[in-house]
Amino acid sequence: MADNGVINPWTVSGEIDYNKLIERFGTKPIDWKLLDRFKKYTGGLHFHLRRGVFYSHRDLDVVLDEFEKGNRFVIYTGRGPSGPVHLGHLVPWIFTRYLQQTFDAKLIFQFTDDEKLMLNPELTEEEVDHWTFENALDLMALGFEQEKVEFIVNRRHSEKVYRVALKVARRTTVSTVKAIFGFDGDTSPAFMFFPAMQAAPCFIESEREGRPVPCLIPAGIDQDPFWRMTRDTATKLGYPKPAQIHCRLLPGLSEGGKMSSSVPGLAIYTTDGPDIVEEKINKVNTQGRGPETCSLYQYYYFLFEESDEALTRIAEGCGARACALCKAQLIERVNNVLENHRVRREGKRSTVTDLLNL
Ligand code: TRP
Repeated sequence: MADNGVINPWTVSGEIDYNKLIERFGTKPIDWKLLDRFKKYTGGLHFHLRRGVFYSHRDLDVVLDEFEKGNRFVIYTGRGPSGPVHLGHLVPWIFTRYLQQTFDAKLIFQFTDDEKLMLNPELTEEEVDHWTFENALDLMALGFEQEKVEFIVNRRHSEKVYRVALKVARRTTVSTVKAIFGFDGDTSPAFMFFPAMQAAPCFIESEREGRPVPCLIPAGIDQDPFWRMTRDTATKLGYPKPAQIHCRLLPGLSEGGKMSSSVPGLAIYTTDGPDIVEEKINKVNTQGRGPETCSLYQYYYFLFEESDEALTRIAEGCGARACALCKAQLIERVNNVLENHRVRREGKRSTVTDLLNL
């Protein structure tokens, strides 16, 4: 962890030293051996893997071993629906879609509406229901196959999660939960149980099938504390330990941290129109920054320039190349992507209604 960075599921701020997180969380870097294994299935490598956007893992090798033996894994990820989706959220979801396509895997997607309500007493139930639907449109707009997607909205589909969550919660203790998440006296008591709710989907397929079904979780590394607790209880319950593949977080339009929804000017939402995107990007102070510290370069790196050669040219031109030009090009790309995204998103209303069982 860097000197001034904070990272946990509910707070990400300051400079994050991603290599130190590997040490601190006890995960493994994704090395060339693993990347070579991936290449076998895909021909090429997804740019998120080539560039180390997804850079750390636990048991990815085990999941691939099982896959090779014919034991297919389920993919599990999720979203806390308390506001609109921004570009940072799309990073792991785009990679998740690639995983689904490559391994023909089922995706379980959890909406932790309960988590968001207990985090923010001002938020209404209508609001989280609204954002669940809106966020689901963004997810499905990315091209997931509906037949291979299952939604779990914790408040709505509690019969799917509660029984398994209780199994998890019975095998853990307040001290463990506190040690991992650092709750204090101002925390809602519901949070003592919540980690079990986020753990449960890891085991749901194993429960249903009555055999160990491996589970792979693509997610931001900020979610890792949940998986440490989940992996502990997996052993006690006789389920396979869920595997993780972790990504770095897209920084906000200023520097550092992740693109946070709580500071609207610093995030680009999928619903932002062309003028808003232009205004937000033009406002970024890029003077005197190089590719390492310029947040706009990170946007090319994480999302908007898939060609490595073209990306290198952007980095090399940085400084010499006028920032205004770089901004104009990024504005055009973001707006193109978002315009297409919004068309696909509108087309997903009935799909999402089905998947949510509304
Ligand atoms: N807690 C996550 C959030 O606030 C949502 C979530 C639930 C999730 N299950 C997950 C994220 C599994 C990644 C993987 O966004």
